[in-house]
Amino acid sequence: MSEYKTEQEVFWAGEFGTDYISRNKQHTLFASNLNFFSKALSRCQSVESVIEFGANIGLNLKVLELLFPSLEVSALEINGDAVKELQKFIPPESVYHSSILDFQPQGKTWELSVVKGVLIHINPDELDGVYETIVNASSRYILIGEYYNPSPVAIPYRGHTDKLFKRDFAGEIMTKFPNLRLLDYGFAYRNDPVFPQDDITWFLLEKPSKRN
Ligand SMILES: C[S@@+](CC[C@H](N)C(=O)[O-])C[C@H]1O[C@@H](n2cnc3c(N)ncnc32)[C@H](O)[C@@H]1O
Repeated sequence: MSEYKTEQEVFWAGEFGTDYISRNKQHTLFASNLNFFSKALSRCQSVESVIEFGANIGLNLKVLELLFPSLEVSALEINGDAVKELQKFIPPESVYHSSILDFQPQGKTWELSVVKGVLIHINPDELDGVYETIVNASSRYILIGEYYNPSPVAIPYRGHTDKLFKRDFAGEIMTKFPNLRLLDYGFAYRNDPVFPQDDITWFLLEKPSKRN
């Protein structure tokens, strides 16, 4: 029996997830990611710590380290081969080899919680718990970057069914956590002539200050 609850987790923990790593490496994503995060986080004040859920080999985190030089970086990732790559530049205690469905942060929080291109691959029945995990992990900012659709749809993904879902993830999070403030949002287009991204719609949310 699988250690995972959903077929989507088995898919990413296994061969498909490992093959994704080499596809991800081949892309010249660095400049596009630098542009993406500098725009998406421009409304943040300084950020001292981050956790990325579904970090893959850490391409986003390497960009974040450039943008915030004193950043303390943590990563959660389900695929063991991707985890080995993360451990090459992140201390082992800050790399969580786990499904986001099983994550136990044990009270730890990070100033920024990031998820990009991951909620689209989560079994929709599990999203409610995953939203809680992402929001509870943050002490201040939450960045969601996913495929947007006003209503939930499943679309074929590289010949596979039930592996890619589009919906208003950030809208659902804001409905579930009405205290969150929408600081900024935007779209990064696949045909951008200079800094293409995979049609990512992003939302930067902020928790209410404890001082107020
Ligand atoms: C499409 S990739 C996106 C990678 C990275 N966030 C980026 O923006 O390039 C999805 C990543 O999420 C990971 N993933 C998928 N389901 C997961 C789960 N349930 N828990 C943790 N990671 C997961 C995959 O292994 C993969 O690394």
